[in-house]
Amino acid sequence: MSDLTEITLADHGAVTVVTIDRPDKLNALGVDFWPQLREALARLEADGTTRAVVLTGAGDKAFSAGGDIAGFGELDGIAARRAFQTECLRTFAAVEESRLPVIAAVNGYAFGGGCELALACDLVLASDRATFAMPESAIGLVPGFGVLRAPAVIGRHWTKWMVLAGERLDAEQAERIGLVQRRVPHEDLLDAALAVGERIARAAPLAVETGKRMINRGIDSGETSWSLDAITLLQSSEDTAEGIAAFTQKRSPRFEGR
Ligand code: COA
Repeated sequence: MSDLTEITLADHGAVTVVTIDRPDKLNALGVDFWPQLREALARLEADGTTRAVVLTGAGDKAFSAGGDIAGFGELDGIAARRAFQTECLRTFAAVEESRLPVIAAVNGYAFGGGCELALACDLVLASDRATFAMPESAIGLVPGFGVLRAPAVIGRHWTKWMVLAGERLDAEQAERIGLVQRRVPHEDLLDAALAVGERIARAAPLAVETGKRMINRGIDSGETSWSLDAITLLQSSEDTAEGIAAFTQKRSPRFEGR
């Protein structure tokens, strides 16, 4: 699977660990990440041996610090922004719709798209060092999948706490509000996630698949296209351009509301 540049796969018997692999940028998710995660899931679904997937981040600091903000600045024009947002939404849907259960092992920052990925997973285990945030409003954006899915997972007000106020949650708070099912000491995270994966792998595959499908009420295509339109429009605003420029130049943004 050497054509996968943004993620690595490691076989642990019936459980495969998928690692987001860009630790020097806190596993920020570049344009190539999104199709590669879909491709990896498709291969694991077809391999006949994988029964559960653990998704984690390389290094000690981050699960993922979210979409690659520097890359956002390179999206030129509405068509490119729309195509990129479509890629992201398709990938979150691929995680939710996968036949395989996907367990997030959150080993540090799960910010923006990283937090959204955790929301798309079926279960979330977190290290006691994990931090969750959807801070896109600070750069003039909104998490296009998080706003659709988070209300069902953590409720509307906690979603607003995260999306509007950009508040960070530590692992303990995240566990309290149901974003995390189990919090473990940092060094035990992967073993704990593998143990859950192995337990699921011993269960009847069709029952697991059917249970997942029945519990996951899909986000309908109307909601997805509404999100796509709203995010594409927002991403074309002057404030978003300013937010992205400020992040890359390591300065505070000056927002004008246009
Ligand atoms: N996109 C692109 N690059 C990112 C990134 C992102 N989302 N998050 C972090 N990076 C890069 C930084 O630019 C930095 O690169 P450099 O070493 O070449 O300067 C490197 O990763 C390390 O990040 P840094 O900010 O120095 O680490 P930190 O520990 O001080 O802060 C965060 C960690 C997560 C608080 C901070 O990186 C951050 O706020 N990131 C953006 C989170 C975000 O808004 N995500 C949503 C995106 S839509």
